Amino acid sequence: MRFLKLLSLILTVALVTCLFSGCGSAKKDFKNAAEEFFVEFSAQKATAQNTQVLEFNKKAPYAINYLNIGNESVDKAVADYIDLKKTEFLTKAELEENKGNSLFVDFACYRAAENLIGVVVKTEQKTKDGALLSTDYKTFNFNLNSGKEITTELLSTKLRNKMSRHLNKYSEDKLGGEMIFDLNSKEISTAVLSENGLLVHINNFKNKVNIPYQDVARQISSDLRENLSITTINGQVIRDVDPTKPMVALTFDDGPSAKYTDKILDILEDYDSVATFFEVAANLKYAPDALRRAEQIGCEIGSHTTTHANLSKLDADGIRAELSKTNAEFERVLGHKPTLLRPPYGACNATVKQTCDQYLIGWSVDTLDWQSRNADKIINIVKSEKSLNGDVILMHSLYESTVQATEKLVPWLISEGYQLVTVSELIEYGYESDLTLGKYYSYNFFTGIE
Ligand code: NI
Repeated sequence: MRFLKLLSLILTVALVTCLFSGCGSAKKDFKNAAEEFFVEFSAQKATAQNTQVLEFNKKAPYAINYLNIGNESVDKAVADYIDLKKTEFLTKAELEENKGNSLFVDFACYRAAENLIGVVVKTEQKTKDGALLSTDYKTFNFNLNSGKEITTELLSTKLRNKMSRHLNKYSEDKLGGEMIFDLNSKEISTAVLSENGLLVHINNFKNKVNIPYQDVARQISSDLRENLSITTINGQVIRDVDPTKPMVALTFDDGPSAKYTDKILDILEDYDSVATFFEVAANLKYAPDALRRAEQIGCEIGSHTTTHANLSKLDADGIRAELSKTNAEFERVLGHKPTLLRPPYGACNATVKQTCDQYLIGWSVDTLDWQSRNADKIINIVKSEKSLNGDVILMHSLYESTVQATEKLVPWLISEGYQLVTVSELIEYGYESDLTLGKYYSYNFFTGIE
């Protein structure tokens, strides 16, 4: 009897110890696995706290970091998603479909602005032995003021196209052109707002590509731009352009003129319209205020060299010398150098293309205003075009007749259904094209005749 009692005691102790240590080591393994899983996003929590829930049981252990940014509806939206994942997982465990599998959930949080955050939630399931069963991701973008998700706001077609172009360039530069992107809305939804730009997750979340906000400033919504405090691109005020509406760019060369530039700006301002001015740097000193005013009302300032130089007659060094002098003067007066350059006389050759680090812009409708000095003739040339959609109209800031023609042309163009845009806007919205160095945007480009 005694012997049996002793034996049973020994057995019991042994069993309990075995169970306990077995349990203990499984629990320890699980804790280690969780710790390991949490490393990836540990440094990327922005200002969010994480609320950790570790639930160890043999059937369905899980370890979750919940977002806790202190905004009730935002924290809840993410928690709701996570809890859905958890419930699915636990339901399967109940049905004995995932015996002893474990669930891990963590998040990365990016703060794009005071009231804008991007969140990436990663969910992983592993077997009892630590083998990976599944990984999936979900992204969120929130406005903390409204407590609302704003991912849909990001899903515009124009942003999608722009991001595709950006990613294709990334692919060409970094991946040897291996991947070709034509983002659909599911793919674009892998983008989160981050500190420096839109962070796009590609290749099934294996790679992250940051698209700086300046590069997509025209494609994101005006609300978002405001929240991100983006108001200009290269000094040019960002305006709302309707990409579906016909558009035309008026351009005025050879100024600024102390006499006429302000008059042209008055007309543009009256009709809430803009134009592009290709200015000769040597003239900037005659009307620096008009130049700055032009930019303030959303017009674009391009370079037209310092002395109206024929760049095609210069060698590379000569071109560089002319342009560095030119840009210095623009920087002095405007605070930045122009991104566009119209070569005087439209004279552009291979050396000019290779040497200039500004976008080379020509025109498609020549009004010959300098020759005729006659408002009616200028107007007739413009009106005789079949369609002006996508056209760049060439005029000069130096003549009274040009001002008179502008006074009639601006309201006429608007009544014909055109919106007046800058050259950069025209290329970006009208042609859905990114400005490219080394290319001359001339008659052929704007008329589609190559
Ligand atoms: Ni000129």
